[in-house]
Amino acid sequence: MENIVSHTAAGHNRPEIYRKRRDRIRETIGDGVILWLGNSLQPRNYEGNTYPFRQNSHFLYYTGLSEPDLAMLSFPDSGKDILFAASPDMDTVIWNGPGRSIADLAWDAGIDAVEELKQLGNHIEPAGKQGRMIHYLPPYSASSMYRIAGLLKASPDEIKAGVSQILMEEVSKQRSVKSEAEIEQIEEALSVTDRMHRACMAAARPGMRESELSGLIQAIALSKDRQQSYNPIVTVRGEVLHNNSYEGMLQGGQLLLNDSGAESPMGYASDITRTFPVSGRFTDIQKEIYRIVLRVQLDAVDLAKPGITYRDVHTAACRIMVEELRTLGLMKGDPSEAVEAGAHALFFPHGIGHMMGLDVHDMEDLGDIVGYGKKEPRSGQFGLKYLRLSRPLEPGFVLTVEPGIYFIPALIERWRSEKQHEVFINYSRVEEFVSFGGIRIEDNILITSSGSRLLGPKIPKTIPEVEEACSRELRGEWPPM
Ligand code: GLY
Ligand code: MN
Repeated sequence: MENIVSHTAAGHNRPEIYRKRRDRIRETIGDGVILWLGNSLQPRNYEGNTYPFRQNSHFLYYTGLSEPDLAMLSFPDSGKDILFAASPDMDTVIWNGPGRSIADLAWDAGIDAVEELKQLGNHIEPAGKQGRMIHYLPPYSASSMYRIAGLLKASPDEIKAGVSQILMEEVSKQRSVKSEAEIEQIEEALSVTDRMHRACMAAARPGMRESELSGLIQAIALSKDRQQSYNPIVTVRGEVLHNNSYEGMLQGGQLLLNDSGAESPMGYASDITRTFPVSGRFTDIQKEIYRIVLRVQLDAVDLAKPGITYRDVHTAACRIMVEELRTLGLMKGDPSEAVEAGAHALFFPHGIGHMMGLDVHDMEDLGDIVGYGKKEPRSGQFGLKYLRLSRPLEPGFVLTVEPGIYFIPALIERWRSEKQHEVFINYSRVEEFVSFGGIRIEDNILITSSGSRLLGPKIPKTIPEVEEACSRELRGEWPPM
């Protein structure tokens, strides 16, 4: 377990944390050379005009370094690591500033050897000639793919085929179990996210634009010197699961779905969704659907503990949802049979949650090894195919729990015309809800030795808590609340 006390004391022991993480991965990999590539700045239209930079999370985990254009080689047989960085030329110093020296970067990461970035290939080539395996993780950006292809003198297809399975498995194993220091970071991120959500509830009024609320959320994160952990979903069209637009106008009677989170100072994510009434008061039918989503969410949190698979939590949550939807006349028949057939996915077409850590969908770049392990293939069934975490839960996992009920007009129309799951779905009743929108409630939990713990502050969630938060006035200070 990483020592949280020395970790937080002005970061004194951070080099030791990264050194230990690298020691562990080198020992488990055993031989060959491990190539770690940091991310590069991505140009919007020319080199000097770039998108906001975010370090590769694996690189961040093993070095703590958030600067662009870094690389590291780890040598399992000698137990050594070399950090590679470019010394800035005068043009770079003039335009971007001098930055931290390579020696300072290496000290912060606990790395003893440094070299110029242009020397990286000179270390890889002899290793390749000696027939030593070069381990690397799958590159998710074209620029990283291009860099690895150049270093290994291979085509992108060969690079894709040559990713190191053992490195993927061991990194996934190591990063899946969070240390106390990491949990502290996630909870720190959640303290800012709490403010983002409370401010959004207090500020929303009929006549506002979604963009005003998404701007407010972003301003709170930026004023704390934080990035957001993903593009926020701030919309009155909650049934569009990852709605990327903020052009909608808020109207009385509508629901606003806010799925947003800040990062911690060290880049850890938070991922919270709340859905609240634009006018501050839920209508009776909104209360009915909200109550169901809330019950499913609370029951799923209760079920999450070591040993249970997240697929079983997902399935149990779906069954509870069907039981409740039957009482509203939207579904019929046996809940277990309905869930097995996938009928509930008309209303809940995604999974109950996913891993979270340095990435909001933690390590999703490594594929299903993270959420499914080696043996279990992911289901192809509609709905279930979006379950990102299925395997048995272990102490130290951090997950989201995020059920939702959505009325997606195009999907309802498609299924109704195809007579899909007619024994389980009461389409004439569903028609009455076609313009309802969607509700999702999402929290972040830590799996403990005996159950789970809700992370971060309590963000308004019950109907009275949400209505109370909506009725507050935004205070004059900045950032709000
Ligand atoms: N916060 C977006 C998602 O979990 O997909
Ligand atoms: Mn999520």
